[in-house]
Amino acid sequence: MQKIFYLTTPIYYVNDVPHIGHAYTTIACDVLARYKRMKGYSVFFLTGTDEHGLKVEKAAGDAGEKPIELADRVVERFSSLWEKLLVTNTDFIRTTENRHKEAVREFFKKVEASGDVYLGSYEDWYCVPCESFLTETQCVNGACPDCGRPVEKLKEESYFFRLSRFTEPLLKFYAENPDFIQPASRYNEIVSFVKEGLRDLSISRTTFSWGIPIPGNDKHIFYVWFDALLNYVSALGYFTGGDAAAFWPADVHVIGKDILRFHTVYWPAFLLSAGLPLPKKVFAHGWWTIEGKKMSKSLGNVVDPRALSDEYGIDQLRYFLLREVPFGLDGDYSRQAIIGRINSDLANDFGNLASRTISMVHKYFDGKILAGAPAGPSELRLQEKTRAVIDDVDRHMNALAFHKALVSIWELVAMVNKYIDESAPWVLAKDPAQKDRLATVMRACVDVLKISSLLVAPFMPLASQTLWAALGGQGLVADQQIDAVAAEPCVPEGTQLQKISALFPRIQADAPA
Ligand code: ME8
Repeated sequence: MQKIFYLTTPIYYVNDVPHIGHAYTTIACDVLARYKRMKGYSVFFLTGTDEHGLKVEKAAGDAGEKPIELADRVVERFSSLWEKLLVTNTDFIRTTENRHKEAVREFFKKVEASGDVYLGSYEDWYCVPCESFLTETQCVNGACPDCGRPVEKLKEESYFFRLSRFTEPLLKFYAENPDFIQPASRYNEIVSFVKEGLRDLSISRTTFSWGIPIPGNDKHIFYVWFDALLNYVSALGYFTGGDAAAFWPADVHVIGKDILRFHTVYWPAFLLSAGLPLPKKVFAHGWWTIEGKKMSKSLGNVVDPRALSDEYGIDQLRYFLLREVPFGLDGDYSRQAIIGRINSDLANDFGNLASRTISMVHKYFDGKILAGAPAGPSELRLQEKTRAVIDDVDRHMNALAFHKALVSIWELVAMVNKYIDESAPWVLAKDPAQKDRLATVMRACVDVLKISSLLVAPFMPLASQTLWAALGGQGLVADQQIDAVAAEPCVPEGTQLQKISALFPRIQADAPA
């Protein structure tokens, strides 16, 4: 049976246009999805949009639109951006779709049948921008502890989910699944929160109408998080016998640290109540600041990923986001940082290795790969390092340590660059008696380059394809199996290499912003 892998991004609110934070989560998932496919997995990669709730209703009102008009307009901004950034999602779920609404109702019925729903009345503080309920003690001087904006008092009849019943089951689950919450530093934060005891959770509203009505009492609309979290199963057709249902439970939900509690407390509790298996992992990445400042509309420093990819290139943006900051920590975007990464890692190290190798093969052998002499100790060391890097990359990718995977690949690149300097092909080329040795050196470099083109492919789909094809690779690099290619003696004798122009042109650091 084929190995399967299911990963998800959060579904993004349509009251905002996509920014670098959204692109970060989605690109990270895309890299993992592409990598897993190249390791033989059948992958289901889900993203989408969160379209209900007071926040969207208000944004639509402000824009003089109906909520669905706003959603239709903004959803296109997201889906076209993902296309542009070469994101290979399997499906795109919108919470306004019927398939989703049906699943929410089905799921609710299961939770109700478990005795975990009751009608009560509710009075509490509510932060509209965050769509979160707060107790008196959580508020800081009448404001939301997360975003600092004023909170509102709400009193209304509401359906409740018996979250309090799940304090112990959740603690047991965390103890038995210590890898469930990643990075590990976040695990303790959640466990301590749950240990304080959980309050029942209001899961319906009567104060707005933009959402999914509760079956049997349509005065009540589902609380937007109950609705939203369900996307992870509704997209699979879980309750309607969809083919993709077998992908549940998710291998990983990738989210930003801001929504960890929803995914590691509420979501598993809902699933336990409904009798569904729990996701295997929730990974919370950090937040980006912009040139040292929080990104916000009011500061006018929101970074548009579309503009960045136009300016620097799609591969370059994808590489930068995943290389610059360890996945799980906060990071800072600056013009200087992205240009630095492009010029040093991509142009100098990787791009230069590709150009110098290919141009030497052209110069010395008209672009042809010759058999050469048997591999010597330095070639064997390169082969050994290549195998070790393939294993390291696998370990790091499985841990979502994208930056470490890239560091490993770059160790290989550095080793080949050094090997070229030490082997000095330009000296060998002067001595006809060294022709076989020269062919061996060239072939060793080309072999590593070809494996590198596969290893970087999930991160940089365009440059990797150019390189793969230039080295005589057939078809799409994205369709290759890393282990199968690595098992073969890499570039066959007689292969004709194609010339390429610089994979990553240098960027003038003093170019105007
Ligand atoms: O929370 N840095 O949607 P949302 C890094 N609809 N990532 C960032 C970021 C930043 N500065 N700002 C946002 C929602 N993100 C809900 C989710 S899921 C069932 C429902 C990313 O549009 C990060 O992934 O506010 C965060 O989790 C997500 O955008 C929030 O997107």
